[in-house]
Amino acid sequence: MNSDSPTTVLIVGASGDLARRKLLPALFSLACKGRLPDGLRIVGFSRSQYSDDHYRDLTWKGIQEFSDLTARRGAATGKSSHSACSTWKAT
Ligand SMILES: NC(=O)c1ccc[n+]([C@@H]2O[C@H](COP(=O)([O-])OP(=O)(O)OC[C@H]3O[C@@H](n4cnc5c(N)ncnc54)[C@H](OP(=O)(O)O)[C@@H]3O)[C@@H](O)[C@H]2O)c1
Repeated sequence: MNSDSPTTVLIVGASGDLARRKLLPALFSLACKGRLPDGLRIVGFSRSQYSDDHYRDLTWKGIQEFSDLTARRGAATGKSSHSACSTWKAT
């Protein structure tokens, strides 16, 4: 990815199993390793209607369950050197 230009990842089927178990935990792990471009936006699309807060909570539970252990520890302790990791849930 070219890190000089804004990047948006669009997840079609954001309420589904693939997003919850694979795509979002993988993006989280990459964020914790500093492998995503600054200012990356992730936009989810599906028919289900969730509030932003409810969807963030669902996503966060999936991340806690399925992202790799190093990424989860970095976020939990605030020791990741990448701010995107520790601020993931809030943004
Ligand atoms: N799960 C895996 O590990 C995995 C692995 C490899 C490949 N895949 C493939 O990835 C795809 C998704 O799998 P999945 O397991 O995530 O399925 P899923 O759990 O059934 O989720 C399907 C997603 O698509 C959305 N969707 C369905 N119809 C839609 C429509 N008309 N408009 C907008 N959104 C719609 C659903 O949201 P709403 O119901 O809220 O609209 C939901 O978010 C499938 O083709 C599957 O074969 C999955």
